[in-house]
Formats: sequence, C-alpha cells, structure tokens
Amino acid sequence: MKLVDSFGRHIYYLRISVTDRCNLRCIYCMPEEGVPWIPHDEVLSYEEMTRIVKVASQMGFSKVRLTGGEPLVRAGLPNFVRMLLQIDGIEEISLTTNGTLLKKYALELKQAGLQRVNISLDTLRADRYRYITRRGELQDVLDGIEAAHDVGLSPKINVVVMKGINDDEVIDLARQTYKGWHVRFIELMPFTSAAEYVPAGELQQRIELQGALEPCSLNGNGPAEYYRLLGATGTVGFIAPVSKPICLFCNRMRLTSDGQIRSCLLSDEGVDLRGPLRNGASVQEVTQLILRAVAFKPESHPLLESGSLKAHMSCIGG
Ligand code: 5AD
Ligand code: SF4
Repeated sequence: MKLVDSFGRHIYYLRISVTDRCNLRCIYCMPEEGVPWIPHDEVLSYEEMTRIVKVASQMGFSKVRLTGGEPLVRAGLPNFVRMLLQIDGIEEISLTTNGTLLKKYALELKQAGLQRVNISLDTLRADRYRYITRRGELQDVLDGIEAAHDVGLSPKINVVVMKGINDDEVIDLARQTYKGWHVRFIELMPFTSAAEYVPAGELQQRIELQGALEPCSLNGNGPAEYYRLLGATGTVGFIAPVSKPICLFCNRMRLTSDGQIRSCLLSDEGVDLRGPLRNGASVQEVTQLILRAVAFKPESHPLLESGSLKAHMSCIGG
C-alpha cells in the first residue's frame, strides 16, 4: 500500500522517540535544569510501540528510525530492533544517538539487525563538547563512532552549527571526511535562543575555500544534500531546515514516547494512540487515528511563520 498525504507526498518513514530522557543537556535542546520527564506509565511499552508499527506497516510505512531523548538510555533497545524487524513490510531500522553509550551497544545493535546510525557531535574539542552538552565526555562519543564503524553500522555524524559557538570548526569537521567520516551540517532550528543559525549555503562556501565539493549521493531517507571533497572517502552533507523548503519532500511521521502520532516536528498537533490502544482499539481504529494525523500534515513548517516553538526537541525526537 502507498500512503500519500494531502499535498501528494509519499509517506513511508516513521520516527519513533523511544524515550524523552537523555543523559546530556545540549544547550539547543533542553534547559540546564532539564525538563520534567514523562512518567514511566505514560511511556509506551516496546510491545505497544510494536503494535503501532504493525498497523503502520500495513498502511505503507517501511522504514523506522529510533530517536529520543537518547534512545540508548532506555533498556532493551537491541531487542526492540529485533521485534520491529519481525514485522512484515518493515525493511529498515536506523538509530539517532548522541553516541555516548554506543561503544557498549554497537555490536549488539548490529547483531539485532540495525542497519545505520546517526551520531550527534557538534565539536571535536573536549572542553567545548562539555559546554554544548553541559555534561558529556567527547572521548565517549569518539569511542562510540569507532565502535559503530567497526561493526559496520555506517555512522553519519550530525553537526548542529551555531554561530559563534562551533562554526569555527566547520572546516576541521569537514576534513574528517578524508578519514572516512560522513559529516552532515544541520542548520540550528530556533527551539531556544541558544545561538543563531548559519545558512547551509554559507557553510558550503566556507568549506569550498578548502577544496572543491563534488555533488554525490549517499543512501538515506532525509533532506540532506551530499558532496565530496577531492580524495575524501567520506561525504559532507547539508541539512537546511531553516533556509530551504525541505518540507516539500517530507516523507515522515513521528511517534512520541507517550504515544502521540505527529505529522511534523514543528507542530504541536498530535493524535493520541496510547489511550485508544490501552482501551483495546482495533487495527481499523488505530489505522483511522494514524490517517487523521497524516491529514494534519502541514504543507510547510510553521517555523517561518511563528519563529519559535513551545516543545523541547528532546520530547519530540530530532
Ligand atoms: N536544531 C537542529 N537540530 C537539533 N537537534 C536537536 N535540537 C536541534 C535544533 N534546535 C538535533 C540533534 C540531533 C538530533 C536528535 O536532533 O543534533 O542530531
Ligand atoms: Fe540529548 Fe540529543 Fe537533546 Fe542533546 S540534543 S540533550 S543528546 S536529546
């Protein structure tokens, strides 16, 4: 089955936030004191999430990405990957993580069938890493990246660029592609006023002072554009949620850890699945609720109109 929304976009990609909790407090994502966590009994069990994905797969969803918070702070994630891969029609599971716990779990995740992993890393300097994440150890992430690479999880590194905070490292980070890293620069979205964003076009120009960027392709389901520096085995990517109309090609829906299905990262509209599910909703009823959420999917994001947002990123799942 092919699921198409009101604007003709093919929807097949589900991002699941398995937990809103995180072991870091990145300045662009959460306030220093953290946010009140969703109580455990309001978070969907892996069995409940699996039931939803079964319905979604019958509607045409074929790819799943696990996000958070930090997904690896929730116990049993590799087994959840296994549960999802047993569902007919689910072809690919990937993970977005801050990488701090990845050294411990990389092999287990690979063995469970996880295909790919995105790792968030905004700086190569330990002191700056601690400033941006408010508590992280850079070395843990570097170990995580190496472990992911060694087991064949094809890591991509996500860099959120903030003017005056880490934009002076763009060239250093791009140079890591010579040793095989895939590095993607993401425009900062104004969830908090942590810093200003730098347009992707400007980042590209700065990197081109280093050397020509040759357009290339890399497998993935998102809005990134990829390039290669001459002689590099890895790629440089750009994701421009602020300066480019990426919504035109948006293929995704989101499931929050407390069981709401959402059509857009930047919309507060959600359809609750947890209540109905716990009250014994049928497959048809859950299908209708997901369709209702798809019908809410806006043509483009409200960022441009309102300029700010109520929700914290950690609750919706990057
Ligand atoms: N702007 C852009 N990306 C963000 N992320 C979190 N907050 C923001 C923001 N304000 C990214 C993280 C990570 C993913 C989970 O979401 O860097 O890659
Ligand atoms: Fe945690 Fe990711 Fe938010 Fe950082 S950006 S606090 S790692 S959820």
